[in-house]
Amino acid sequence: MSEHIKIVEVAPRDGLQNEKQFVDTAIKVELVNRLAAAGFQNVEAASFVSPKWVPQMADGAEVMAAIERRPGTIYSVLTPNMRGFEAALAARADEVVIFGAASEAFSQRNINCSIAESIARFEPVATAAKAAGLRLRGSISCSMGCPYQGETPVASVVDVAQRMLRLGCDEIDVSDTIGVGTPAQVGRVMRAVGEVADLSTQVSGHFHDTYGQALANILSALEAGVRIFHSSVSGAGGCPYAKGATGNVATEDVLYMLNGQGLHTGIDLDAVVDIGQWLSGHLGRKGASRAGNALAARKS
Ligand code: HMG
Ligand code: MG
Repeated sequence: MSEHIKIVEVAPRDGLQNEKQFVDTAIKVELVNRLAAAGFQNVEAASFVSPKWVPQMADGAEVMAAIERRPGTIYSVLTPNMRGFEAALAARADEVVIFGAASEAFSQRNINCSIAESIARFEPVATAAKAAGLRLRGSISCSMGCPYQGETPVASVVDVAQRMLRLGCDEIDVSDTIGVGTPAQVGRVMRAVGEVADLSTQVSGHFHDTYGQALANILSALEAGVRIFHSSVSGAGGCPYAKGATGNVATEDVLYMLNGQGLHTGIDLDAVVDIGQWLSGHLGRKGASRAGNALAARKS
């Protein structure tokens, strides 16, 4: 058996949250169901944030109520505070995601508080998640750079990672929100985080592809020892509080590369290509996955 890589599919949340036109709840539900059926162990399905801040995610409870639950699949949701956590609990989420930043400016813009305030806000969420037996994940935005502050010191990423681990996070996402990181930098950041966390089981790479570096960054993170990656089918996505940033690295591209490396994900690339084409059709534009579009053209 080749080495296993866990892919967290984030299109239903990160992929759709920035869409201007409201995507029907039924489409979101079908997206989650099709992704789970394609073999993803973990699907980020919804976000329980303020609907004033992110209107596209306002139907999270409806999405979670309507999806089919595949045994063994982890359905994750974003929870910035206790209000979000209560909604996640009611929605029977398997994993809740607290999301902070390694940059003060981004923390203010994205969740309206400082890094220290965010950690204080996450504390009761973390305690409640553990008490309820849920998995807890912590995302660190701007780990490779910030749209407002510029460079992010590696020490800031490590500091937030440590604070999130202290809260009891099972997994930490080192997130390149605006896709500015380059492979050497990713290697440096991951190795530094590796001083405080186990890279193969506790750390994921969450790369946006704005500067076309995401696949190279994944290879660099793999080399450092990371074995969990986030991706979005058809490369959909972006953060409303990171202007100009494009979507996450496309899942089809990641799977094509990992398959070529002889690594195992348990995910059916062919099914993912179909999902990417279907989703792009609904969003009214060509998908951003190079491998997805090439494989779809070969099929037709
Ligand atoms: P706030 O204004 O500081 O908080 O927002 P508040 O407690 O004063 O609440 C303001 C209003 O929101 C109130 O409603 C609350 O009831 C409501 P009003 O009285 O005005 O009618 N509210 C909520 N409603 C539903 N669910 C909740 C909730 N909490 C408060 N959970 C807050 C603070 C965090 C809520 C706000 O800033 C927010 O929702 N931010 C969301 C930002 C977001 O979702 N960003 C995108 C996701 S992060 C991301 O994409 C990065 C990631 O992909 C990794 C990477 O790439 O870097 C994860
Ligand atoms: Mg993101």
